[in-house]
Amino acid sequence: MRSLLTYLVAAVVVAACVRGDRYHPADPGSRADTVVNRAETSANYWAQEAQAAINARLAHKESVKKARNVVMFLGDGMSVPTLAAARTLLGQRRGHTGEEDKLHFETFPTVGLTKTYCVNAQVPDSACTATAYLCGVKTNNGVIGLNAEVARGDCEASTDAGRHVESIAEWALADGRDVGIVTTTRVTHASPAGVYAKIANRTWEYDLSVALTGSDPERCPDIAYQLVHNHPGNKFKVILGGGRRNFVPDNVLDDEQRYGRRTDNRHLINEWNKDKEDRGVSHKYVWNREQLMSLKDDLPEYILGLFHRSHLPYHMQSNSARDPTLTEMTEIAIQSLSRNEKGFFLFVEGGRIDHAHHDNFAELALDETLEMDKAVARAAELLSEDDSLIVVTADHAHVMAYNGYSARGHDILGPSRDLDLDGVPYMTLSYTNGPGFRPHVNGIRPDVTAENEYEKLEWRAHVDVPRDSETHGGDDVAVFARGPHHSMFTGLYEQSQLPHLMAYAACIGPGRHACSGAAHALAQPVLLLSLLVLLTSLFQQ
Ligand SMILES: *[C@@H]1O[C@H](CO)[C@@H](O)[C@H](O)[C@H]1NC(C)=O
Ligand SMILES: [Zn+2]
Repeated sequence: MRSLLTYLVAAVVVAACVRGDRYHPADPGSRADTVVNRAETSANYWAQEAQAAINARLAHKESVKKARNVVMFLGDGMSVPTLAAARTLLGQRRGHTGEEDKLHFETFPTVGLTKTYCVNAQVPDSACTATAYLCGVKTNNGVIGLNAEVARGDCEASTDAGRHVESIAEWALADGRDVGIVTTTRVTHASPAGVYAKIANRTWEYDLSVALTGSDPERCPDIAYQLVHNHPGNKFKVILGGGRRNFVPDNVLDDEQRYGRRTDNRHLINEWNKDKEDRGVSHKYVWNREQLMSLKDDLPEYILGLFHRSHLPYHMQSNSARDPTLTEMTEIAIQSLSRNEKGFFLFVEGGRIDHAHHDNFAELALDETLEMDKAVARAAELLSEDDSLIVVTADHAHVMAYNGYSARGHDILGPSRDLDLDGVPYMTLSYTNGPGFRPHVNGIRPDVTAENEYEKLEWRAHVDVPRDSETHGGDDVAVFARGPHHSMFTGLYEQSQLPHLMAYAACIGPGRHACSGAAHALAQPVLLLSLLVLLTSLFQQ
């Protein structure tokens, strides 16, 4: 009886594997003739791959020194599916199947996950999350550098200094280190603003925006003003990104012959220059790639680079003569900040992954992710694992799905090999919502692969729910860490722990420090003692 049952179960399992079941249809891609990487058919291949990984883990020695330098890379909207799709694209651009490839930062020794919700939001925005991962405090959507007692847009509540929270940049400056920010968005945009601004509404990037919502810009100065005139922004050695319009009056033409947006007649670029002159420090404002690159051989103490009126263009649409890459900006920032013996905190944002997702532009979102990965690789090359902590993470997820049952190595940017119930193709990368909605015809989805614009750079992937802009996702995001005390970043935790963990490794700011632990306290007397013993023995001879 028992053997008959076993036989029946086995037969069902075998049948399911061959034909597939209702949930997992039979997969012609698993036939041997579609195997692309022959080596993978051997069990030994996978065993060896695993053994090599074990050996690498065992060989890796975590630095327990103080992290002199901390570089935080933020991929805005870089969800976990974005990582998987970007690495597949990277591999495919190299002529591989792709799924097995790795982004540079995916080789970091520690990976963790953070929970991104905010005090009043299940699915967060980039302002409250910036406050979490830079100031260590969760707050309300749209609010930067203030605790959650301040409602979005409440200028009056934001003037209470007791509600201001410090960023890790302030902790670094207090310790005598230097600070820089680099982004592909406006330097006044929510993520970089988290490094320096205290503002009740993230859209208050210039004075008129404050006034338009009925608040007084004198009482609640805009974000651009804060960057130039307030602590800690006015002490940043490096500021590189876009957003020039927020620094220039609306009746004054900027470097590219465009009017600014300010109505208070302040020319904040001139005021930044004047502030540095008054302090007698060398400084340089630049607005294009050539000028930025020319600084390399003779770096001033302070650099302000505003390369566009608004955001920098997407890398795939940029002008390589005019627009610096994120890697180039990162490299100059590190070169500049490395002059401080005490170290530095640098914030680097790949800010346009988010914008591309909002527009359902999957290819651009992946390419922006790969651009940030290049910048991480360059930073990792320039900075020693021994004394420099590099943390790579995202602020929140998006609703792009990596779906369907395509075969191995299938074009990540193409349609799934599968078809829907009506026999219509669907994309491997598609979105639950956004502007890419197509009305159904007689209850049937249109075939998007037949559209004229199909596969053009700004072709939108299809979505289920029509919306002006695709939404963020509420799922967790990954954290990758390399350098001193990287293992502190493992596990699943609140996003607001990140600056505390970085500060622990760097021994700055309030709270517990790696350097004040028992190991450190012991190390010095032991060293002194051994030196004494050595000297005594030398004299005795
Ligand atoms: C924040 O500012 C934007 C633009 O200035 C405005 O549309 C929005 O209503 C403001 N939000 C609040 C809650 O005041
Ligand atoms: Zn967004």
